[in-house]
Amino acid sequence: MKNILLTGGSGFIGSHLVRLMVNKYPDYNIVNMDKLTYAGNPENIKDIENKSNYTFVQADIVDDTAIFELFKKYNFDAVIHLAAESHVDRSISNPKEFIMTNIVGTLNLLNAARDAWKDNMQDKVFYHISTDEVYGSLSDTGFFYEDTSYDPRSPYSASKASSDHIVRAYFHTYGLPIKISNCSNNYGSHQFPEKLIPLMIHNIKHNKPLPVYGEGLNIRDWLWVVDHARAIDTIFHNGEVGETYNIGGHNEWTNIDLVHLLCDTMDDRLGNEKGTARKLITFVKDRAGHDMRYAIDATKIKDELGWVPSVTFEEGLASTVDWYLENEQWLDNVTSGAYRSYYEGQYEKR
Ligand code: NAD
Ligand code: DAU
Repeated sequence: MKNILLTGGSGFIGSHLVRLMVNKYPDYNIVNMDKLTYAGNPENIKDIENKSNYTFVQADIVDDTAIFELFKKYNFDAVIHLAAESHVDRSISNPKEFIMTNIVGTLNLLNAARDAWKDNMQDKVFYHISTDEVYGSLSDTGFFYEDTSYDPRSPYSASKASSDHIVRAYFHTYGLPIKISNCSNNYGSHQFPEKLIPLMIHNIKHNKPLPVYGEGLNIRDWLWVVDHARAIDTIFHNGEVGETYNIGGHNEWTNIDLVHLLCDTMDDRLGNEKGTARKLITFVKDRAGHDMRYAIDATKIKDELGWVPSVTFEEGLASTVDWYLENEQWLDNVTSGAYRSYYEGQYEKR
């Protein structure tokens, strides 16, 4: 029996990881600790909430007393830390929340793990989930490698970079057994529709403008969220302590090409004439400090741990579009209330 603390398990990636771990490892006790911010949604893991090897605890990682108590209660063998403020645009309008959760929250978890494991760190793991955005912005060529220098450019990526550095410092200074992975853009079911792909699907469905920043030429490297969860499982079990692994899809798209593909897929699914959804595309004021291109070199995880993505982008995207169309209620629930005022304040004409 292993007791595992998984933070942020009610969010997008966390919910896919909780599902994978709870179903695949019946002899692990998975404790999902989540504050349930606007991005955390118990609906995301409804299918596993009654499993005997799953426990949910609502708590804030910024609350160090609550975190220390949790470690005392559960005697954790490992931590997989995903809880974070994750949306770049929100970090531009409210950086402090990102500093508190992503930096101070991570520090609190590190301190609690260090205290709980001080007499024996053997076989313990503190696994920190991070992003490729810490490496900054690429021009037309080149890739991010595990040893690429950090160059974060948004409050979000600066907060994630800072937390990565602190996690590594706890390895070197205190011998805390850490692992880190940095992943590219994820897509899939249960993603909050402030992010590009579910936002576009939602707006096409409701015949609303499709806001593309700048000229739509920024490039992202997209990976199916289930493949990210598989990679985390692989690194958690087989990755080396103290090491960093890059995770990516070798799947680069300009935003405008991706939006075109989504428009055409949605026209097909909704039975509309081809070209209908593309008419909704609206170029809006660019994101401040908008990183031009991300591209991960994922050779290390492939060669050392044998992980490769399991689906093509075409398969993953088609199943993603179908999921949002089949789960209208989920999308409608999360786009009511506070989402509406966020959305109205977010976009300005170019
Ligand atoms: P998300 O915003 O969908 O979910 C974040 C979760 O963390 C939510 O359930 C939220 O309630 C919880 N949370 C936020 N603040 C908290 C706090 N103070 N205490 C406890 N819980 C809190 O994010 P996501 O897209 O699933 O990302 C998860 C992790 O993966 C993040 O660390 C992110 O930086 C990283 N990541 C994301 C991507 C991506 O494309 N989405 C890519 C690479 C890395
Ligand atoms: O690279 C990994 C990162 O990917 C994660 O660390 C972040 O948590 C995650 O949010 C994501 O960040 P991005 O900023 O790349 O994702 P987002 O979906 O917000 O935007 C993708 C691209 O689309 C980006 O170039 C901005 C653009 N965009 C986004 C939105 C929301 C638009 O053109 N219009 C939009 O309305």
